[in-house]
Formats: sequence, structure tokens, C-alpha cells
Amino acid sequence: MARKKIALIGAGNIGGELANLCVAKELGDVVLFDIPAKESFAKGKALDLEQSSAMNGGDVRVTGTSKWEDCAGSDVMIITAGIPRKPGQSRDDLVGVNLPIIRDVADNAKKHCPNAFVIVISNPLDAMVYELKRRTGFAAEKVVGMAGVLDSARFTLFLARELGASIKDIRAMVLGGHGDDMVPVLSNCTISGVPLPQMIAKDKLSAIVDRTRKGGGEIVGLMGTSAYYAPAAAAIAMAEAYLGDQKRLLPCAAYLTGEYGYKDLYMGVPVVIGAGGVEKILEIPLNDEEKGMLAKSAASVQSVVDVVKKAAG
Ligand code: APR
Repeated sequence: MARKKIALIGAGNIGGELANLCVAKELGDVVLFDIPAKESFAKGKALDLEQSSAMNGGDVRVTGTSKWEDCAGSDVMIITAGIPRKPGQSRDDLVGVNLPIIRDVADNAKKHCPNAFVIVISNPLDAMVYELKRRTGFAAEKVVGMAGVLDSARFTLFLARELGASIKDIRAMVLGGHGDDMVPVLSNCTISGVPLPQMIAKDKLSAIVDRTRKGGGEIVGLMGTSAYYAPAAAAIAMAEAYLGDQKRLLPCAAYLTGEYGYKDLYMGVPVVIGAGGVEKILEIPLNDEEKGMLAKSAASVQSVVDVVKKAAG
């Protein structure tokens, strides 16, 4: 059987770490794509990664390119094309600059990679993944946004550190848009089955919720640019679920057609990812407070999607 082909659109910080993980896990051959001005940079990164893989006896190929033809026939496409945040910027501030980029990527994805399972990471995430699906006309099952896996990992980490617990024992999920209104679902959160409220004081928990919501901004403040190790790891978990038909239940930005009361919108919800892509969207029970937070988050996402819909092009 031929090796799987994984196109990484954007060879910057997240793209490089995505490639590194694909190589380390031998998920398939990697095409590291960037704009012509960055082609030699992409080629250099690709060569460096192949040499790193060679040390462990890895056979997968990494190709750096700015030619869309090289991405043709990809099984998975992960999109990080765009500009990351700088300190003081919100994700939504990126809509103007990243919208033409996602449209360019969408047109080429449609032409060259019509069968790929597409994972979008570019921000503002929920609006960019919406536009990618709208512009390509790809099936909703094949286009998904990476946010919830990352936000849930941040929430889980902060809880584990506060409780002195093992990460392995914490089950937590963050839903909603990938912004400061995201919704940690406290009613479903447990430490090895013990409900979270029994384990932590209210003020400590609300500080952790707040830190999770601003988790991306915390890193931008420290590094001057967006996080890349954890976003890449989150997207690779999603890609592995698809390639390995794992049926994993993961919080991802999925296209809603009435689930949770929302239509024609991408937002973080629990989904099952397997060989069919997004095979199922799960509607879990939420309490009234969580429903209210989800409504606020959906309204924020909708306002950015409205900007996208109005922008010509
Ligand atoms: N096609 C392909 N690649 C592009 C295009 C395009 N039309 N336009 C820009 N790029 C490339 C840039 O040249 C750059 O190499 O996308 C890459 C982005 O890399 P970084 O600047 O290092 O940004 P990164 O940290 O990887 O984040 C990328 O993901 O999490 C989001 O907010 C983040 O939107 C940002 C994106």
C-alpha cells in the first residue's frame, strides 16, 4: 500500500512542528508548502527534517515546495497559512489579513486536493474554517478546525497542576469558539470519575477557566508570537484519528446544521473522527449556564463570520 501523503500548507512555526511530528510518527510522506518567497526556506526545513528522520532510520519523505502540484492527491491537508498574532492582538484582529490567504488556499485545495481531510489551524479559526468549507464546497465531514483539542489540553494541564493530580486522570472538554468566550464544560469534567467541583474551590476553578480562555494570549505575550508545539500536537491527534480510523471523541470546530441550536456555523463541539472524517457530532447535555456561555461564544463567532461573508472576493 502506498504511504499516506500529508500536505502542510504554511511552513512556518506550526507547519515545521507538524512536519516534525509526522516524521517522528511516520504518518506518511510530507509536503511542506509555502509561498514562492519562502520556497527555499520550506526546502531547507524539509531537508533538515529528513536528516533528522534518517538518524532514526525513518523512510518517510519530506518535500519543501511552493508548487501546488506537489500537494496533489494528499490524504490529509493541515492549513496554517497566515499571519500569527502579535502581543495585544486578538485572533479576530487577523481576519482582514488572513481572509485572502485562506481564500487562495481554498481555491488551490479544491483544484489539487479534492479528496483530502482538511484540518484548519489559521486564525480566527472558526471563521477561517467556515470560509474554507464555503469556498471549496467540500463536504462538511472532510473540513474541520483545530481548537478544542488544544484548549482542552490547556485546561487539563492547569487543573492537573493546581490539584497536584495526574494529567492522565483528568477528563475535560472545552467547547465553543476559539476565542475568549470559549466554554469549558465543567458539568462533564471529572478526575477519574470524581466530579470536578468536589475537588477544587470555586475561586481557584474560575481562575483556571479564565487562564484557559486567555491561554493563547499568555503565550503570545511571552514569546511575541503564537504557540506552535501544542497546536501542532493537537492537529496531529486529529490527523491520526482520521488516518487510523480511530473513532476518537475530540472537541473540534465542526459545521453545525442545527446541533445545539446552531446552523451554518463552525464551532467547537464534541465530534467522532474516523476514516469518514467527522463521522458524528455529539450533542451532550449542557446546564443552563453552559448553554448561555455557548450562546455568547456562538454570537462572537457569528460576528466574525458576518465580516467574512460581507468581504468581497
Ligand atoms: N499559502 C501558503 N502559505 C502561506 C500563505 C499562502 N497563501 N500566506 C502565508 N503563508 C505562510 C507564511 O509564509 C508563513 O511561513 O504561512 C506561514 C505561517 O507561519 P508563521 O508565521 O510561523 O505562523 P504560525 O505560528 O505557524 O501560525 C500560523 O496558525 O495558530 C494560527 O494564529 C496562527 O494564523 C496563524 C497560523
